[in-house]
Amino acid sequence: MRLLVALFCFLTQVVCAKDKDIAWESCKQQTLSHLPEIHGWCTAEKATKMMDLIYTIRPTVCVEIGVFAGASIYPTASALQFLGKGQIYGIDPWTHEECLTSYVKDDANYQWWSQVDLENIYALYLAMIAHYDLEPYCTTFRTTSREAVHYFPDESIDILHIDGNHSPLIALEDAKLFLPKVRKGGYIWLDDIDWPETRLAFKYLNKTCVLDEEGSLSSQVALFQKPYD
Ligand SMILES: C[S@@+](CC[C@H](N)C(=O)[O-])C[C@H]1O[C@@H](n2cnc3c(N)ncnc32)[C@H](O)[C@@H]1O
Repeated sequence: MRLLVALFCFLTQVVCAKDKDIAWESCKQQTLSHLPEIHGWCTAEKATKMMDLIYTIRPTVCVEIGVFAGASIYPTASALQFLGKGQIYGIDPWTHEECLTSYVKDDANYQWWSQVDLENIYALYLAMIAHYDLEPYCTTFRTTSREAVHYFPDESIDILHIDGNHSPLIALEDAKLFLPKVRKGGYIWLDDIDWPETRLAFKYLNKTCVLDEEGSLSSQVALFQKPYD
């Protein structure tokens, strides 16, 4: 009899786990189908990797530096919503002054960022969060990464995404300022690693953390894990 009960419990667990996996796959597909509607630069491949990491490690605290209209916050918050726990803290000043810092006037980035309507982008971000009922999972800091870093205790962040100002010194500063805030064993995404501007940040993280080659998208975004010791 005991054997039968044990077998029944085991089979129930297997069926529940399978149902959960099916529900998760369907959540991902639904999120990916809406992704092209959101302004920004998060590809389906990157969103899938970000969501899978969240599903695997079930984070409490995620932080994104550089939100824009929320293209990468959206898959992150959707995964947290699926799990029913966790928070993504989005940091972005949404000002021209900060976007143009460190770029010279004839740089193509300077031209692009000086023309974008950042108030409208911020409004689109807020509308997206409301539309998908993601407010319980999102906290927004409308300020620079340098100012927002003080809100986070040391070793409190499970997953950090660095995608703010891409000028070499600011991307490096983001990595240096926020690394102590990531817990041991926590993860760091660094976007646009094919840009020469992110080389310094990449080198710094590559020296201080472990590059997760399987988690990374080789030419686009790197995933690092902070060592345990
Ligand atoms: C490349 S976009 C972010 C893209 C977004 N993560 C996506 O996937 O679509 C860079 C963002 O960084 C923001 N930013 C610029 N300077 C910043 C700073 N000092 N701290 C935080 N964010 C900053 C800009 O306002 C802009 O929205």
